[in-house]
Amino acid sequence: MTMNQIICGESAFTLSTFEAASIDLCITDPPYLVNYKDRDGRSLANDDNPQAVLSVFDEIYRVLKPNSYCISFYGWNAIAEFSAKWREVGFKTVGHIVWTKNYSSRAGHTRYCHESAFVLAKGWPEKPLHPLSDVQRWSYTGNRAHPTEKAVGVIAPLVRAFSLPGDTVLDPFAGSGSTAIAAALNNRNYIGIELEQHYCAIAQMRLEDVERGCLGDIAA
Ligand SMILES: C[S@@+](CC[C@H](N)C(=O)[O-])C[C@H]1O[C@@H](n2cnc3c(N)ncnc32)[C@H](O)[C@@H]1O
Repeated sequence: MTMNQIICGESAFTLSTFEAASIDLCITDPPYLVNYKDRDGRSLANDDNPQAVLSVFDEIYRVLKPNSYCISFYGWNAIAEFSAKWREVGFKTVGHIVWTKNYSSRAGHTRYCHESAFVLAKGWPEKPLHPLSDVQRWSYTGNRAHPTEKAVGVIAPLVRAFSLPGDTVLDPFAGSGSTAIAAALNNRNYIGIELEQHYCAIAQMRLEDVERGCLGDIAA
């Protein structure tokens, strides 16, 4: 298993080469299965391909250690599909976190002013020493590195609450590497897997900046 790297590849396949029960925590932000396009026309690989996204959760479950957490962002539009898959592979839902935005990212029947993630458990993990509030404040990245870039400052509290220093944190939908950076800045090991070469390169560059102590606008 390759520690502290962004692996450029497809996650279900890549994870199938990992040992079972080798990962302490998964924090991930899969495509929401909404055929997303931003204002600049940027789209997400597999956002129109439920099978290619959902099948990764079989492997996430297998590589997680017994009694561990997976925190997965999701969009409400495809919650039925995500929920069914999580249950099928064996995860229990043990929490739900909402981030409130002070702007709306879109408007439809409602204005979209929040993001959300489920806290999933494999087995019965020990509860965090300092449980997070399930309502958190969102911060906007400007989506410069990736069309759906999550702020490192949004992910870092999850890393701290649900893992310990020295643990290994996996993100199989790594994008521009925000989870990996949050893990590195908090003395955790990381493994990021990302399909698109372009975003792998960006994630690797951002992690090199972190190693050199050039944090720029990365806040954790
Ligand atoms: C919602 S984005 C993650 C953005 C990330 N949280 C960030 O802050 O940059 C999901 C990412 O998963 C990648 N992806 C989609 N299907 C994949 C798969 N089967 N294996 C690996 N990566 C995949 C996409 O290319 C996309 O970059």
